[in-house]
Amino acid sequence: MSLEVCGGKPLKGEIAVHGAKNSVLPILSATVLRAGVCVIENCPCLRDVHSAITILEHLGCRVHREGSTVTVDASTLHTCSIPDAMMREMRSSVIFLGAILARTGCAELYLPGGCELGNRPIDLHLSALRCLGAEIEEEGGHICCKASCMVGREIQLSFPSVGATENIMLAATAAKGTTRIRNAAREPEIVDLACFLQKMGVSIRGAGTSEIEVDCVEKTQDVIHRVMPDRIVAATYLIGAAMTGGDVLVCDLVPEHVATVTALLECSGCNLDIDRDKIRVRGTENLKSCGTIRTMPYPGFPTDAQAPLMAYATQCAGTAVFVENIFDSRYRHVSELTRMGANIQVVGRVAVVEGKSPLSGANVSASDLRGGAALVLAALCADGVSRISEEKYIDRGYESIENGFSKLGAEIIRKGE
Ligand code: UD1
Repeated sequence: MSLEVCGGKPLKGEIAVHGAKNSVLPILSATVLRAGVCVIENCPCLRDVHSAITILEHLGCRVHREGSTVTVDASTLHTCSIPDAMMREMRSSVIFLGAILARTGCAELYLPGGCELGNRPIDLHLSALRCLGAEIEEEGGHICCKASCMVGREIQLSFPSVGATENIMLAATAAKGTTRIRNAAREPEIVDLACFLQKMGVSIRGAGTSEIEVDCVEKTQDVIHRVMPDRIVAATYLIGAAMTGGDVLVCDLVPEHVATVTALLECSGCNLDIDRDKIRVRGTENLKSCGTIRTMPYPGFPTDAQAPLMAYATQCAGTAVFVENIFDSRYRHVSELTRMGANIQVVGRVAVVEGKSPLSGANVSASDLRGGAALVLAALCADGVSRISEEKYIDRGYESIENGFSKLGAEIIRKGE
């Protein structure tokens, strides 16, 4: 299978953003905490969501999906172990660790898989759980965790890891007293998870700041929760509209969540009308450089938008410099963009883009989720036909990217082999 894109058409129209992958995945893990029912609305139809549901079913939960609503009844949970193959499907499977441990006092799983972005250790997750009193044995990727009595402590993270913060928040619901996380991640997805936990009955303070406190929960209750919009999908549509010289209204988003991206688009000459939950973007033929972009933990520029913005930078006059500070190998899209005619040099964590390059259609291959989205964006601007293979990576995070862009007038279809 591959995505076939015939480029050169400005995007026009209106598109709604689906629920956030990075929010729904930890929330699905968190449903395990309650021996009862959680209803999750605005749940996107993504490969990673399907993988999370498979894990829940394996654990014994009853899961029902109707449209974008997923109902999980975890009262029938009957095992605390997840097989290797399920863990390898995605990085987020590791967030089940904190949830299962809190619910059952033991957990047995394997190192998670996920997009290849360089070294992705889970040392911060494990040392934090140990600090709460969990006994953890690791051997050859197998992780065995026991915690008969966890106690709330102060946990100082050396880096504000999103996943580690989430795992601690979940485990802390079963740790006696109060757990305080210092240097916690401040991403909007952390706030969404905290909001879900609060509805479940967990007392949790400070989500969205770098200090989060979680109290041990006595009694949980059933939850109905609507997942926040996906800020990276929103950013991808905004960037696509801008770089094709289009005129698009992107709806169902939180403007504050994409503020670093919209600031750069405006700075390079796009016209933006920002409303409460929608943004209209109008591109121009004469985009200017967006300068230096440093990826940072939220509220800094998101590493997940680095590749899409790099595709954009190829269409801006002048030099743009990217500094990737979060992951050590997140430039695998560069060689593919170069094939299409982009002028990009990479040295270590720095990529220098010289624009504006005329792009031409090519056969390229996605090597990770956001890098794959960047190739679609470049193909939308390229002269001629591009074929993007390994599009399964893109399906991890975009609910039918071809339907989304087709709706905006792009010529993009999925082709079978
Ligand atoms: C989450 C997001 C991902 C995003 C990333 C950074 C989900 C499902 N995924 O990933 O889309 O790109 O945040 O915003 O929410 N690290 C360690 N040890 C650890 C944990 C992390 O060294 O125990 C390092 C990682 O290797 C990486 C950095 O910390 O270099 C950031 O990782 P982290 O914030 O944990 O990202 P994820 O939760 O994996």
